[in-house]
Amino acid sequence: MTDQKNIIRSVGAYLPARVMTNDDLAKLVDTSDEWIQQRTGIKQRHIAAEGENTSDLAAAAGHKALENAGLEIADVDLIVVATTTPDMTFPATAAVVQQKLGMHHGAAFDIQAVCSGFVYAVATADSYLKNGLAKRALVIGAETASRILDWNDRTTCVLFGDGAGAVIMEPAKPGEDRGVLATALRSDGQHWNKLYTDGGPSSTQSMGHIRMEGKEVFKHAVGMITDVVYKVLEDTGHTIDDLDWFVPHQANKRIIDGAGQKLGLPPEKVVVTVDRHANTSAASVPLALNTAVADGRIKRGDLVMIEAMGGGFTWGASLIRW
Ligand code: ACO
Repeated sequence: MTDQKNIIRSVGAYLPARVMTNDDLAKLVDTSDEWIQQRTGIKQRHIAAEGENTSDLAAAAGHKALENAGLEIADVDLIVVATTTPDMTFPATAAVVQQKLGMHHGAAFDIQAVCSGFVYAVATADSYLKNGLAKRALVIGAETASRILDWNDRTTCVLFGDGAGAVIMEPAKPGEDRGVLATALRSDGQHWNKLYTDGGPSSTQSMGHIRMEGKEVFKHAVGMITDVVYKVLEDTGHTIDDLDWFVPHQANKRIIDGAGQKLGLPPEKVVVTVDRHANTSAASVPLALNTAVADGRIKRGDLVMIEAMGGGFTWGASLIRW
């Protein structure tokens, strides 16, 4: 392993055209715009069209990231897709994305760390690039969470949405002092049954739907998030005050606010998209990154902290000099 740093060269995203508001949801289950906004900060979510699969969302976001970098798919030799909602049990959605982007070389595989998947995928690509296993990576977080929701369960169906975000990662040029500075990954499987699907190929030979102990997730989230944020700050000799942007997993505005307050972060440094996207699991961090890069907030040289926490429980954070 070298001390080579790997930069995020570009970002891209894709959101399905259909927007479902809280009022639309109130026609399906006994809920209200007021309840959802007050408890979660969510106002709307995007829902994939019939026949539009996770690989379609992922390929569209990947295509955008390539375009924003001025690159072709031939310039990439690794695709990592973080997803909990693969097109099929196998092959990996990354292989389908590879086909859709017209890539016949290199390697492609999926990462399953639920909502933390994108942070795990960035760490994986960073390691592959450092080890010389790949030269340039397309890292994607993509989900069609709508497909694994129980649309009769108001305690979960109001929380999630569909979407995809992608980044191109490559080695920093000589003398360029930027890139991924440090990453912390954690999991603790004793909590797996607090957030899970009640089915899968091996256990039920079916897909299952999302089940969650919301209060338990909430109880652990802030502590786990701040734990890894402090770890990467400590590893790099930085403090909270050095951060230009905090780009958290977008599960719930109250969790984001709780973590921000515990860390002592001014709200204006926190990127929030949960109001428009809801919880898009592994897609939420790259979607938020794309929003803040596209609107000019995140600029070259900024110090950016990404973090996520989700099913497993898994959690992680990465500090990036943009
Ligand atoms: N609309 C209206 N009422 C509802 C709804 C709804 N959609 N869902 C639950 N309720 C009711 C409950 O039935 C309950 O009614 P009761 O008092 O008559 O029994 C009441 O609202 C309160 O329910 P609670 O579960 O106590 O609500 P809580 O304040 O805990 O909020 C929530 C629920 C928003 C899920 C919260 O626990 C939470 O934010 N948890 C974090 C989990 C999360 O964000 N998960 C996302 C995935 S995990 C991840 O990505 C990290």
